[in-house]
Amino acid sequence: MPSRALDDPVLERRRLAALAQIRQFGDPALRIPAVPITEFDEALRDDVERMAAIMYDARGVGLAAPQIGSLRRLVVIRGGEDEPLLVLCNPRVVWRSEEEESDFEGCLSIGEVSVEVSRAVAVRVEAQDVEGRAFELEPEGYAARVIQHEIDHLDGILMLDRAPPEQRREALRELRDGI
Ligand code: NI
Repeated sequence: MPSRALDDPVLERRRLAALAQIRQFGDPALRIPAVPITEFDEALRDDVERMAAIMYDARGVGLAAPQIGSLRRLVVIRGGEDEPLLVLCNPRVVWRSEEEESDFEGCLSIGEVSVEVSRAVAVRVEAQDVEGRAFELEPEGYAARVIQHEIDHLDGILMLDRAPPEQRREALRELRDGI
């Protein structure tokens, strides 16, 4: 999810350096379904740390492993104020509300583009933490939107795939012309 230019030149350089490490639209890694995590080891913790650093520096709210070219089912999501990082290994949506809501989304892998996406307003998600312990969460509203967006990345699905056709065409035009 999105990122905007910062006034502070140091933070802005850091943001651009982080963005440079994120796979961008057109990269095949964004289209390949990720594989389940079976080893909850040091390498996984390293991926989590690297993804969290990139996400915070890029000023994103969430990041999925395929966005840094790692094809495992791993998502990190920025916690709320004074809340820790949320790490989701092998997350699965096991229930979604019938009620949906449409709102604008951005993506760290899709430049400055934002499109409207209709998402369930509440979901139940089963996942494992970085040690492999199972847990469940039931986000609503914006948090539910972010989680659905990030889990989509694990299946090679991008927000553009879910946008209204006219907005998708406009977004593709913007991306092609580099506006
Ligand atoms: Ni995204």
